[in-house]
Amino acid sequence: MKKILSTMLAAVLTLSLVGCGSSKTNEPTKPTSTDTKVTGNLIGVAMPTQSLQRWNQDGENMKKQLESKGYTVDLQYANNDVNTQIQGIENMITKKCKVIVVASIDGSTLTDVLKKAGENGIKVIAYDRLIMKTDNVDYYATFDNFKVGVIQGQYIETKLGLKDGKGPFNIELFGGSPDDNNATFFFNGAMSILQPYIDNGKLVIGSKQKDFTTIAIQGWDSAKAQARMDNLITSTYAKGTKLDVVLSPNDSLAIGIVASLKNAGYGSTDKPYPVLTGQDCDKPNVKAMIADQQSMSIFKDTRTLATKVVEMVDAVLQGKSAEVNDTKTYDNGKKVVPSFLCDPVYADKNNYKQILVDSGYYKETDLQ
Ligand code: BGC
Repeated sequence: MKKILSTMLAAVLTLSLVGCGSSKTNEPTKPTSTDTKVTGNLIGVAMPTQSLQRWNQDGENMKKQLESKGYTVDLQYANNDVNTQIQGIENMITKKCKVIVVASIDGSTLTDVLKKAGENGIKVIAYDRLIMKTDNVDYYATFDNFKVGVIQGQYIETKLGLKDGKGPFNIELFGGSPDDNNATFFFNGAMSILQPYIDNGKLVIGSKQKDFTTIAIQGWDSAKAQARMDNLITSTYAKGTKLDVVLSPNDSLAIGIVASLKNAGYGSTDKPYPVLTGQDCDKPNVKAMIADQQSMSIFKDTRTLATKVVEMVDAVLQGKSAEVNDTKTYDNGKKVVPSFLCDPVYADKNNYKQILVDSGYYKETDLQ
């Protein structure tokens, strides 16, 4: 199964440029860009893993956009291994990178290496995931992580008709990796919408598992999500109890959940797939949406985030302040890191063409 999962996740990437914005609607936002050319500056970009499509796109977009501004880029992936990431950053310090951009694997493990970066006058930007327990992080650019969860919760609310008093429905909850600061934001955002319906009995957690540490999936691992879903089916849904909805924080978990449901015979008229959320709009998941296996996925345009981070790199190298829109939310235990939050939207079977194809993110043929 692992092999099948990794094959499904290994997708061909499509790249182009748009910018970051703050639209309040479910529409991707249009580009903004600056034309400052800077030459001869080495920028380090430390990404977590190549095993998920999104990080490949993030890395490629960052490289492409930085190079187009005349920077030289040292792009490194770490195979989701903390020590490999630390070594990669050590290398970037030795090579005298001017700025290091990090999408951390475990946000709490970089304190020592980033102290060294700080001592060498290197600026640090946290990419997508907050870097914890360090003063040596200058800026943070991400999508509004709480809002990601809110949109997932609202999607469930609308799909089930909860606002109209429909229910009760059986739900199961999944959480992301506990070492990723984003994971609790996603969960808390979703629960801000779902909790009232759990309280009034319209949503029933069949397994009763709702504590974050119990439902969290270490390393955002598809196989672990599949194993947990298998256990939930056996313990709670084997004897005809209907599973109506599964909250999955992202696409890698959704892949594992769908695989488990499929093995248990879901996907027929008698036993349709439950409402299932996701995040990233990875190609296998968009295909799963088209095939009615997954209901929605949050779209976080990786081109947008890269544009924002490149603007931050430009600003810090020119000794200017970078544009931020949040100076309260992201406390890493040492400081509140000035942040720019981009706006997430959702895609589903009804709007994916507009959101993903018309915006140039994917070609229609990528999704066949
Ligand atoms: C990102 C998600 C991603 C997850 C697993 C999170 O930090 O925000 O977009 O799905 O990591 O890679």
